[in-house]
Amino acid sequence: MLRIDQLGKTLPTTPPRQLFASLCLQVAAGECVAIMGESGVGKSTLLNCVAGLEPVSAGSIRVGDAELVGLDDDALARLRRELFGFVFQAFHVLPHLSLLHNVAVPLWLQGVTGAEADRRALQMLDRVGLGDRASDWPRNLSGGELQRVAIARALVHRPAVVLADEPTGNLDPARASDILDLLLEQVREAGAAAILVTHSQAAANRAGRILELRADGLVPLATGAMR
Ligand SMILES: Nc1ncnc2c1ncn2[C@@H]1O[C@H](COP(=O)(O)OP(=O)(O)OP(=O)(O)O)[C@@H](O)[C@H]1O
Ligand SMILES: [Mg+2]
Repeated sequence: MLRIDQLGKTLPTTPPRQLFASLCLQVAAGECVAIMGESGVGKSTLLNCVAGLEPVSAGSIRVGDAELVGLDDDALARLRRELFGFVFQAFHVLPHLSLLHNVAVPLWLQGVTGAEADRRALQMLDRVGLGDRASDWPRNLSGGELQRVAIARALVHRPAVVLADEPTGNLDPARASDILDLLLEQVREAGAAAILVTHSQAAANRAGRILELRADGLVPLATGAMR
């Protein structure tokens, strides 16, 4: 489903700094791979590269049959909206939109609007246990509830690939565990290929595979609980 081949990223600093090179990773539909690694090693940059938000220096990124490296900005933006869902920190929820409309944003970007977008966003909010809060505002929600909104938004357009960068970074352990359950369940159900970047061993253990990003590439760490 997601196939990364010989990916390289050199930062345009003086002198140029190589973050990673010859990086290979395949993630199957319905699979979740955790990526750990020291702060500053390049995990977030890797996710941004995979999503086409940052240019790569070498290599190939394919989702299904589509090659993302080398596309022009318009084609990339179109594919990105269709193929990817992001779960970043809760703060990415838009404060001036209701929860329903926050979740509907990825649909709007694909041209699905109005009642149809509302219907699908509500269905997704229901799935994360917030259907009865659909018309509420982000400011009235707790951190854990906002993370659930972020998960609903990442999955509402049924993306092929889900990228999560520290999705439970600012939650207590019990809350983090619930959120991960929800994320992994939704990923499996949608048959998406997921990459979970985390500093938490407990969170990584929930993934099917754990890899460590190091200067010399992605190294397998252990086999987690999820299959
Ligand atoms: N455009 C850029 N120009 C210069 N340096 C950059 C750029 N983008 C990222 N970096 C540097 O690349 C390194 C990797 O950053 P990145 O955010 O990917 O790390 P990370 O592994 O996600 O760390 P953390 O665990 O702290 O989130 C950092 O040293 C950062 O300063
Ligand atoms: Mg990071």
